[in-house]
Amino acid sequence: MDFSLSAEHELIREMAFKFGQQEVLPGLQERDREAKSDRVLLQKMGSAGILGVSIPVKYGGTGTDYISLGIVCEELERADTSARVVMSVHSGLHCLTLLQWANEEQRMRWLPDLASGKKVGAFGLTEPNAGSDAINIKTSAKKEGSSYVINGEKTWISLADYADQFLVITRLEASSAKAPYAAFIVDRTTPGFSSKPLKGKLGVRAGNTGQIFFENMRISAENLLGQEGDGFKVAMSALDHGRYTVAAGAVGIITACLDACRTYASERKVGGEEIGKKQLVQQMIANMVAGRDIGRLLYYQVGWMKNQGLRHTREVSMAKWQNCNYAFQSANDAVEIHGAYGYIDEFPVERYFRNSRGAMIYEGTREIHTLVQAEYELGYRHDKPLDHMLPKWQPSEVF
Ligand code: CAA
Repeated sequence: MDFSLSAEHELIREMAFKFGQQEVLPGLQERDREAKSDRVLLQKMGSAGILGVSIPVKYGGTGTDYISLGIVCEELERADTSARVVMSVHSGLHCLTLLQWANEEQRMRWLPDLASGKKVGAFGLTEPNAGSDAINIKTSAKKEGSSYVINGEKTWISLADYADQFLVITRLEASSAKAPYAAFIVDRTTPGFSSKPLKGKLGVRAGNTGQIFFENMRISAENLLGQEGDGFKVAMSALDHGRYTVAAGAVGIITACLDACRTYASERKVGGEEIGKKQLVQQMIANMVAGRDIGRLLYYQVGWMKNQGLRHTREVSMAKWQNCNYAFQSANDAVEIHGAYGYIDEFPVERYFRNSRGAMIYEGTREIHTLVQAEYELGYRHDKPLDHMLPKWQPSEVF
């Protein structure tokens, strides 16, 4: 068993950390206060090669392994959740799912522009009345000759107003399939497509979230991912990738909490003594360290399983569930350590607190992950190898 990270991983960590410090943090307080997302950040992420991480060189990506994607997510979220969310929807939910399910012609058609950042991808599963019970989606696709006509709406869509293309899960009209769902790649320029931002979010205010609508939107059958009837599996495997990025990002929040608390606890004095010397403060710091280290082990394990081409649905659910719990607990304690200064946005921990709450809801609530873990343990749920697996990582000469 080898727990060491490679020199490439360390370089990637440094690159993503610097990107967060130099490109994400400047102006963030204002964007967060005013709920303004930064479209230019997407271009910068593309130019820096970040949007091509873990996409094979053959399709224009960096060819780095899947652990690298986790490391990038961790370091970006150390700066701000809104930057990591871009990776979750573009790289995790969209690009890796394409890599897993698209045929060779489709991969060549879409991945190079996505890897270079010329185009940004997003994901549409959730609907106003179908969140945890994704099986109850109503958005429909009707086959007409060599095209499909899509009607419906999706909500809580990250990058709804910015993404160039969406991986959309629909119900199939008049289908006799056991699971009558299909997955499509939808270009936002298609007539019948529209989007609208959601306002008033508790957290991730510097990130764009919205609704997308399809009104008699006709798309080519060439945009179908997998076969008719594969849609639910495509959605669930997309979540395997998205949850990985969320789990890794959660470690970044914990690291950011530790960064802030180390500084504050050594500067703030009570009764002439720095508060870092107080045992109750040390207890909270120790819990954060535990969250960071356990969280890394959990997501590195999933990254390793991805590299080996192994199914990891149970493990990624565990990593997402536990890491997000630890992140929220760490942010809550970081506010506590900062006292009244933790309650105002002059200090970043207030933002960590709001941002970390969202991740306990999206990409599977903590209740869903709790039930899923119990079902595995009780033998009600099993992971079988899939017909379409994410390709095993192939080391490449190009880095
Ligand atoms: N990969 C591929 N196939 C999978 C799979 C995976 N990870 N997981 C399940 N499947 C397959 C199963 O093998 C099964 O196929 P067969 O019938 O051929 O065996 C089929 O899909 C159905 O699977 P389940 O029986 O496990 O389905 P279920 O109904 O029991 O699932 C659930 C229940 C686990 C709760 C699931 O509905 C779920 O995860 N819900 C949460 C949805 C969620 O996370 N939504 C968030 C959306 S994204 C978001 O938050 C917005 C954003 O942009 C950030």
